[in-house]
Amino acid sequence: MTSPRPEKDRHLVERYRRKAARYDADWARYTVGTLRRSLEHFTWRGDERVLDIGCGTGEVERLLLPLLPDLHFAALDLSTDMLEIARAKFSTRFALRWLRGHAQHLPFADAAFDVVLNLNAFHYFDEPVETLREFRRVLAPGGTCILTDWCTDRWRFRAIDLGMRVFDPAHHRIHRSKALRSAFEAAGFEGVRLETYGVGWFWGMATVSGRAPLSSELAPRARAALDGSTSSPRRRSMPRGGAVQST
Ligand SMILES: C[S@@+](CC[C@H](N)C(=O)[O-])C[C@H]1O[C@@H](n2cnc3c(N)ncnc32)[C@H](O)[C@@H]1O
Repeated sequence: MTSPRPEKDRHLVERYRRKAARYDADWARYTVGTLRRSLEHFTWRGDERVLDIGCGTGEVERLLLPLLPDLHFAALDLSTDMLEIARAKFSTRFALRWLRGHAQHLPFADAAFDVVLNLNAFHYFDEPVETLREFRRVLAPGGTCILTDWCTDRWRFRAIDLGMRVFDPAHHRIHRSKALRSAFEAAGFEGVRLETYGVGWFWGMATVSGRAPLSSELAPRARAALDGSTSSPRRRSMPRGGAVQST
């Protein structure tokens, strides 16, 4: 894994230092729209160990934890300003850790999580396949990674991407949805699923999910268990509507 680029990271931290206080107000509709679509990619049992990489102001935690209070969350971001906003939203009743850290060098043991989320941040990351391998490393066998980001399937995002590459030192690139799917496969994920959709009339989004492979000797039994558990009544889909609120 290549070491992080300090200059690029400094730009990013400075950007979110300026944006943090107004982030939720400015991005409420977009954020809730994209996060809800992302969460529908997984059938939740309710006690998973979840890692949220690039957690920002903790909006996905705010949506999920009131519905599934037994989740164990670790939420990581490079920006202490965004983390401060996130931290202030929660009481201590949830199993929730906030950490400052870098997406490409995760400070966690192998196989430590059942679900990895990376929402609305992937366009910042260099080396997409290596980064996804790092996400896969911290997933338990059979664990699920869900990634949501803008995609360049719509022409206007190709123009936005070009502009950002020239003028935004923190930006890496916005990918085509098919390239995101290929990156998941190249990083060794199985059962890769891609969904593209719009949020409002403007935003062209892609959500990709995939499972970390099961180790070969465990595979047949664990696969059967996984297949069984997805149809179990204990597992819950993210409800549409209901308790999800915008700020
Ligand atoms: C657009 S915000 C999205 C926040 C949140 N995931 C959401 O959807 O509301 C992107 C976040 O990714 C974080 N980020 C970008 N690059 C990062 C990196 N290399 N490591 C950790 N966090 C990073 C930023 O600091 C920022 O808080």
